[in-house]
Amino acid sequence: MESKQGILEGVEMKVLVTGNNGYIGNVMCPMLIEAGFEVVGLDTNYFDGCLFQDKKYSGKQIIKDIRQVDINDFDGIDAVIHLAGLSNDPIGALNPGITEEINLAASENCAKLAKQAGVKRFVFASSCSVYGVAKDGLAVDENGELNPVTAYAKSKIGTEKTLHPLADDNFSPVIMRNSTVYGSSPLLRLDLVVNNLSAWGHTTGKLKLMSDGSPWRPLIHVRDFSLAFIAVLKAPKELIHNQVFNIGRNSENYQVRELAEAVKEVIPNCILEFTGEHGADTRTYRVDFTKVNTILKDYFKPSWNVKKGVEELLDDFKKYRLDFAAFQGRKYIRLKQLNFLQGEGRLNEKFYWVK
Ligand SMILES: NC(=O)c1ccc[n+]([C@@H]2O[C@H](COP(=O)([O-])OP(=O)(O)OC[C@H]3O[C@@H](n4cnc5c(N)ncnc54)[C@H](O)[C@@H]3O)[C@@H](O)[C@H]2O)c1
Repeated sequence: MESKQGILEGVEMKVLVTGNNGYIGNVMCPMLIEAGFEVVGLDTNYFDGCLFQDKKYSGKQIIKDIRQVDINDFDGIDAVIHLAGLSNDPIGALNPGITEEINLAASENCAKLAKQAGVKRFVFASSCSVYGVAKDGLAVDENGELNPVTAYAKSKIGTEKTLHPLADDNFSPVIMRNSTVYGSSPLLRLDLVVNNLSAWGHTTGKLKLMSDGSPWRPLIHVRDFSLAFIAVLKAPKELIHNQVFNIGRNSENYQVRELAEAVKEVIPNCILEFTGEHGADTRTYRVDFTKVNTILKDYFKPSWNVKKGVEELLDDFKKYRLDFAAFQGRKYIRLKQLNFLQGEGRLNEKFYWVK
């Protein structure tokens, strides 16, 4: 419920989190509850059975494809955090048409239904990937040129464009262009750069970078990512209404080689090798996070850095006994899990469950 100052009071607020049964949602939902929000999840559960830690988030849940939501799903909901989607650049390449259908068309429909149902805020998980190949290593702010090089990034920009015109006195879309995430979660991902390098170091003692390590990436810990979304729910409307925020910290832009070196600092015996090749991935972007850390400074206080995140990952790899076979299996690599489900005939070519 929105107070006179336009502040959404956590204790009274019911939040629908789409895609809650993924990597980020499993960390964010308990944090939302801890912050006093009532949470309902909505997910089609592509990653059922992919547990890394000993238990995952379990709360009120709608099991549904985001392409099939209806207005009743938003009944009594004050805010939506929209995480559901085929999440990351390589998955987009698997089937660009489906990426557009799930990430863009379904997101637009979801936001329109939410607005119709009286939802006040719609917080969208976009990505710094929209900056694609940024010029000369200069840090791009929210007004910087968009230069997407993947279907995934294009789907995020497309969604951003459909959300802005929906803004009015009663409905506030907020675009969160997130840094690449790292850190432990009940549903771990090892297809993300810091998590991936940490897993190589831990399971093989070797870090082989198929590049010269020069590309830039902004990074954020999964808990800091979640804090940013909570901040946007807590902040007064005038600070967040129809805004675009780059989500991260200026100190957390790294070149890939620095990430590998951070892993080596935590696993000193591991061997670092740069092949110097230019791989298929041309993305390089350094991002300016001044806006979020200024406008939302009273609400968003990020505290993690990559080294601390690698230490946490290593502790959890030991605790939950991650070995090379598990690392290379399908549980922690999204593309492999989706390919597996399709190969088994459990998902059809449009990524719907086969009944
Ligand atoms: N992980 C990152 O580094 C990162 C960075 C920037 C933005 N994001 C965005 O944050 C969001 C969450 O990312 P994540 O890392 O937790 O991804 P994830 O793949 O771990 O989780 C996505 C969740 O969405 C669900 N989902 C996918 N398609 C669906 C559909 N058609 N209907 C219903 N549910 C569906 C999946 O079952 C899964 O539980 C995504 O939108 C992603 O693009 C992630």
